[in-house]
Amino acid sequence: MCGIVGYIGYEQAGSFLLDGLEKLEYRGYDSAGVCLNDGSELVVKKAKGKLKVLKELTQNGKLLAGTVGIGHTRWATHGEPSDVNAHPHLSKSGRFAVVHNGIIENYQQLKDYLTSKGIVFRSMTDTEVIAQLIEYYYKGDLVDTVIKVLEKLEGSYALGVISQENPDEIIAVRKESPLIIGLGDKENYIASDVTAILTKTRNILRLENNEIAILKRDGVKIIDTDKEEVRKEIETVEWDVSAAEKGGYEHFMFKEIMEQPKAVKDTISPRIRNGRVVLDEIKLTDEQLKSFTKVNILACGSAYHVGVVAKYIFEKMLRIPVEVDLASEFRYRDPIINDKVLTIVISQSGETADTKEAMKEAQRRGSHVISIVNVVGSAIAVESNDVIYTWAGPEIAVATTKAYSTQLAVIYLMALYFGDKLGTIVPDEYKALVGELEKLPERIEKILEHKEKIQYLASKYFNSKDVFFIGRNIDYALSLEGSLKLKEISYIHSEAYAAGELKHGTISLIEKGTPVIALVTHEELIGKIVSNIEEVKTRGAEVICIACDSHPEIESHGQTIFIPKSCDMLLPSLAVIPLQLFAYYVSSLKGCDIDKPRNLAKSVTVE
Ligand code: AGP
Repeated sequence: MCGIVGYIGYEQAGSFLLDGLEKLEYRGYDSAGVCLNDGSELVVKKAKGKLKVLKELTQNGKLLAGTVGIGHTRWATHGEPSDVNAHPHLSKSGRFAVVHNGIIENYQQLKDYLTSKGIVFRSMTDTEVIAQLIEYYYKGDLVDTVIKVLEKLEGSYALGVISQENPDEIIAVRKESPLIIGLGDKENYIASDVTAILTKTRNILRLENNEIAILKRDGVKIIDTDKEEVRKEIETVEWDVSAAEKGGYEHFMFKEIMEQPKAVKDTISPRIRNGRVVLDEIKLTDEQLKSFTKVNILACGSAYHVGVVAKYIFEKMLRIPVEVDLASEFRYRDPIINDKVLTIVISQSGETADTKEAMKEAQRRGSHVISIVNVVGSAIAVESNDVIYTWAGPEIAVATTKAYSTQLAVIYLMALYFGDKLGTIVPDEYKALVGELEKLPERIEKILEHKEKIQYLASKYFNSKDVFFIGRNIDYALSLEGSLKLKEISYIHSEAYAAGELKHGTISLIEKGTPVIALVTHEELIGKIVSNIEEVKTRGAEVICIACDSHPEIESHGQTIFIPKSCDMLLPSLAVIPLQLFAYYVSSLKGCDIDKPRNLAKSVTVE
């Protein structure tokens, strides 16, 4: 997720662009840049690092000349954070400049084509391909050229385009990634969201998919890709700036819960081509892959919980032993690791000290490390042997949600990719699983559309002293995450238990009214978990079940939240949504600081 701004008017654009980027920094902050038409040519100023680096570079905009410009604050997806990979990107001759938010899924093919035509790329980004294509196809009409380029692009994009030849217009385009048009008095604006323009105007037009805006000083025209004019209602924004940063949601955590369908889609889609899982990021030969006798997964917190889910999935699908370690424990247990062990390291921030040091320990002992990381260019990403990025975008809330979900999505992709290579998944099952995986975002969306029952249950139990989460097999792995979510943002004591283990001691804690959340999605063990539910109910527990809608009978055992049926492997991604929402609503009812819980930090860079 990145932030885009643009200005066309009679004032100097520089200060507005920098101020607008400052309001959008929460959308991405690893690098930033601006491009202005100074009346004769396009001038780009951009830098790695937070916006303050760019501000220093441009003396807070004093060195920027021009009344037309675009700006960008980056959350890297393709190409690590650097000056050259920062946006805006120029075409070969420097006559066209582009800022982009989204992912061009076919950028490599387009880049290869342009390279074959002699175009030399400066950056590693997908975005530069757009700038080069515009120049490559330009025959005098910028709008026609942009429309022709859009026909070549696959993926998601919000674009801002300016050109030396057309100094009195900005072209803006939207497909999936948000983009709004601000309407001023003899000046107009583009921005990724209203935050960036509220100081100038509250009158906006929201671009829909495949709409193109042509901004001039005296007005804005919206057309579709057939150049037909599109009539739009002007919207007046009532939000204040802070509400706007959260997209109108009260908390970043809720916004990020709601972003999960798109985050999972962005992570999965570019890696499924013609029905096959493609993981170009993994540089292992088939022989190397087949040489591994064990997989070791290292992580902390919620990322560790993803590893526990992965153990069940990998062992079932790949028939290879999997060990999951808390990174802080792994480092000091003199682990048995060698070059026959594949290590997978999972980290949202890519900077967690325990995880980073555990990774180095595994590498010192000869293991090949694949990392699953959300922050491009972070230490773990850079120092691992291969890195598979989750494309969740910046996760601001301390309690992870969309990063957790996209890490699960990468685990599914890896299971299918490795299973195909190792021959442990038959073609029909592979095809069916890929099909189910592609439906995952819409199924998550469906759960998010029915939040009211979860909110009601939270209102019943938000004053509880203790809450237990139980499950078997992959449901047990998921109960770990449900318990942590509740603890870390509502401060209610909670424990996750393998349901079959309760009777070996902990069941003594169950008393009248104790809430027990039972994960009942794993098909083969439904009978067993139902017995465990009845065990705790006879001791007074009040049970909430999370079950697939293919088993309506579960409702006879407890208050039930149903999720859409899918294959067992993918159910954690569905069952986790009610758990996240339950924790969120409980914490909200308790008036806790949801985005910044006490004692916690978003990235634990100390041991
Ligand atoms: C999860 O909600 C917590 N914020 C925490 O457990 C987190 O998952 C853990 O600190 C690991 O962080 P990482 O993924 O950035 O390595």
